[in-house]
Amino acid sequence: MKHIRRLPVALGSAIVPALVLAACSPSEPAPRPGESAAQAPAAGASSHTPGAPLLPGAQHATGAPGATDPTADADASDAADDGALPADVRERIDADLAELFGTLDEPHYERLDAWGASGFDPASDAFGVGDTEAARAEFARSAAIRFGFELPHVRDGDFQSVHLPEYQLALLVEIHELGRTKPRADRDAALRAEVERKIVEWYPTLREARSIYHVHCETCHGAHGGGDGPTSFGHDPRPRDFTSGVFKFTSRVSRAKPTRADLLRTLTHGLDGTGMASYGGLSRAELEGAIDWIRWLALRAAVERELLATFELEDEIPEDAAHEAYASAWDAWLAAESKPVPVPSAVPGATAERIARGRELFLDVKKGNCAQCHGEGGLGDGPASYTLEPGGSRESIKDDWGHSIRPRNLVEGKFRGGRRPEDVYRRIYAGINGTPMPTLGETKDANGAPLLSEDELWDLAFYALSLKH
Ligand code: HEC
Ligand code: HEC
Repeated sequence: MKHIRRLPVALGSAIVPALVLAACSPSEPAPRPGESAAQAPAAGASSHTPGAPLLPGAQHATGAPGATDPTADADASDAADDGALPADVRERIDADLAELFGTLDEPHYERLDAWGASGFDPASDAFGVGDTEAARAEFARSAAIRFGFELPHVRDGDFQSVHLPEYQLALLVEIHELGRTKPRADRDAALRAEVERKIVEWYPTLREARSIYHVHCETCHGAHGGGDGPTSFGHDPRPRDFTSGVFKFTSRVSRAKPTRADLLRTLTHGLDGTGMASYGGLSRAELEGAIDWIRWLALRAAVERELLATFELEDEIPEDAAHEAYASAWDAWLAAESKPVPVPSAVPGATAERIARGRELFLDVKKGNCAQCHGEGGLGDGPASYTLEPGGSRESIKDDWGHSIRPRNLVEGKFRGGRRPEDVYRRIYAGINGTPMPTLGETKDANGAPLLSEDELWDLAFYALSLKH
């Protein structure tokens, strides 16, 4: 990667559209047509405490630059034991991050020369959505439902009555402008069809994606994705910290990143029994935009973390470090595509014998050993579900974010990764990232052979499903 050259980036030269995409706090109404969103507080300013670090646990070094830039104030982390990262190092990291990612208000993705040959361009890669006929049809279908009250106005040529969410303000202004400059009589079928197409084929820019997240997700997941938004604290489990880059319910082996489809599944179905509701009422484009933004937050945090770690280790940050960290952060996300959990295509039947075998494996300490956490009855109360503290009190086990976590009470029948037998098979195979739930499909026995066969994994899946009362 040494050959990666810095590309000239014209930071700050981006022309700010006259109408800033509004970023009202979720409780504020979306700007109505005709209202200038430029009067709205700048994105990020409304719900973000100035000086809050991007990475959890990071500390604020005095004199750090970027007081006006909410992304530039991310600060020193455990990289500096004495609490403060040298100001010039902080400045250097902030400059690198700004070059690669822009800011919260003006986000972008740097394109590396090294990607030239492969044709990969993070700015145009819609993260694998694909610009196929089928994908376009699916986007249009969901937008037609989502904007079912607006499209009839368009078909009537009554453009002024169209209302759209605040992150579609640029589109709305365009539509209203058309209505202003073209008398109603001139808004012929072709023009009306064109406007309808603009609505159903809309795909958010990165900036609009940020605004989608701001409206729907930020109150729990936080402005910087740290899982620390104002309403995050009452939740158990806590909203995901996207800066860690760890996602629980993926279809991938080896704790790889989630695919776009994995995240879309979480967004459309929600996570049963947690504060994460279903967002199935949003259009596909809105959901994909939220995913684009989560990934931006995670990639940026990964690069920042890597640079802080490099400095801690080498006491300096080599010239190429930022581009290398950026390239490998992207690699990790792109590599997930090639790491599916191998789920056998033929799903066997849930026979009584299979469920009985599953129960034995569940209890067998040398095989599934699930009962140590989930308890013999599956209630989530096994001996490994807590630790005994001096004095005899019980302390619950923790997840990777340091929060208490209980092994699932399987009798309640809540399967956050999906409840089809193949979903539960996948879950037992791949485990739940960031939690003590192990990756059984990748566990080997003393001879290096897989501990559990495909058949045994099915037995366990059907037994886990059978526990629901
Ligand atoms: C009311 C609070 C709340 C809101 C609003 C919210 N979430 Fe969540 N979200 C959660 C909680 C709680 C979890 C953790 C659930 C768990 O750990 O099982 C979570 C988890 C997630 C995950 C992690 C899934 C995984 O596999 O680890 C993703 C992705 C996610 N949310 C995306 C979003 C997006 C996108 C939005 C906005 C469209 C959103 N959330 C809005 C509470 C919320
Ligand atoms: C070391 C403790 C531990 C062991 C061993 C363990 N689990 Fe879990 N399991 C957990 C925890 C913790 C959760 C909840 C994670 C969460 O909610 O984020 C969980 C969740 C689950 C879920 C819910 C999945 C979903 O989609 O929501 C299933 C099913 C499950 N475990 C089955 C098993 C089976 C079967 C075994 C044995 C092969 C097993 N577990 C072994 C700790 C464990």
